[in-house]
Amino acid sequence: MAMAFGGQGPDSHTGHRSVLLRETIELLAAERGGLFVDCTVGLGGHSAAILQASSDAQVLGIDRDEEALRAASARLAPFGSRFRAVHADFRELTRVLATANVSQVRGVLADLGVSSLQLDSPSRGFSFRYDAPLDMRMDMSRGETAAELLGRLSEVQIARLIFEYGEERRSRRIARAIVQRRDRGEPVKTTADLAHLVERAIGASKKRRIHPATRTFQALRIAVNAELENLDRFISDAVDHLEPEGRLAVISFHSLEDRIVKRTLLKLSGRCQCPPRFPKCICGALKAVSILTRRPISPADDEIESNPRARSARLRGAQKI
Ligand SMILES: C[S@@+](CC[C@H](N)C(=O)[O-])C[C@H]1O[C@@H](n2cnc3c(N)ncnc32)[C@H](O)[C@@H]1O
Repeated sequence: MAMAFGGQGPDSHTGHRSVLLRETIELLAAERGGLFVDCTVGLGGHSAAILQASSDAQVLGIDRDEEALRAASARLAPFGSRFRAVHADFRELTRVLATANVSQVRGVLADLGVSSLQLDSPSRGFSFRYDAPLDMRMDMSRGETAAELLGRLSEVQIARLIFEYGEERRSRRIARAIVQRRDRGEPVKTTADLAHLVERAIGASKKRRIHPATRTFQALRIAVNAELENLDRFISDAVDHLEPEGRLAVISFHSLEDRIVKRTLLKLSGRCQCPPRFPKCICGALKAVSILTRRPISPADDEIESNPRARSARLRGAQKI
């Protein structure tokens, strides 16, 4: 398909590269035009490509990060009223669409996780590359920061969180070190504090190529932003709002997310999710979509080479029946 947008290169203003851009636009069949909801507008890369794919396309762009919405709105200003920005959590999709007086849309996109604007911002506390208050909230207008969360949870809860969301085997050692610091009246407050503490607690492994605190930071970010909570419900809601033959595309960045996306789409495609020992189906699987990606689409080698952050991305899609 001939694409009207400029390939997978970075945006000239921000240097930001949208992941699996061409594949996503093809999966959404954006050249058909119509109203699309970009549930994670970020820096607006996917939205721009949707708007460029057809002069009939419109995008309602949602993000919970007001800073991202400001950047996306500036970038997408040349599209005029074809782009509208909404500050919300995408799990409020039904309310957002009702407020906009919209019942059905041609396509829905969710490019999950954190944006490079957030990761590369020295003050937001997402990365141990910069020393900053341990915040990590995507939506800075509400919710608990990572430092507050570590100040509130018990040692067992912290260990479980780091184990489950970070898949970090040495989570208990890290949790103990965090709570010992807290008990001494010196709670962990900054990214550098946490990165050093984890490094001291579990040491740097020669086998691991990643920083020892990488998994702990991922776990905290997922917890602070409740990233896995109600993801299945959001996908069902998105499908409910698609018009017949409308498309859903979801990009995930770690296996926990991808598993939820895969299972929810299977269920919405009518595949029963009950354990095999159940005598009859109680999961309520109904055929609402056809799955367009039997296996998830991964970035090609050249995309990973030019944008290493894309390496764990997985794109799944479905079409409403
Ligand atoms: C990977 S970035 C999106 C990048 C975008 N596709 C682009 O091309 O520029 C993910 C964005 O989703 C937002 N986000 C994550 N979870 C969200 C949620 N539950 N509701 C709304 N926005 C969310 C983040 O704030 C971030 O800006």
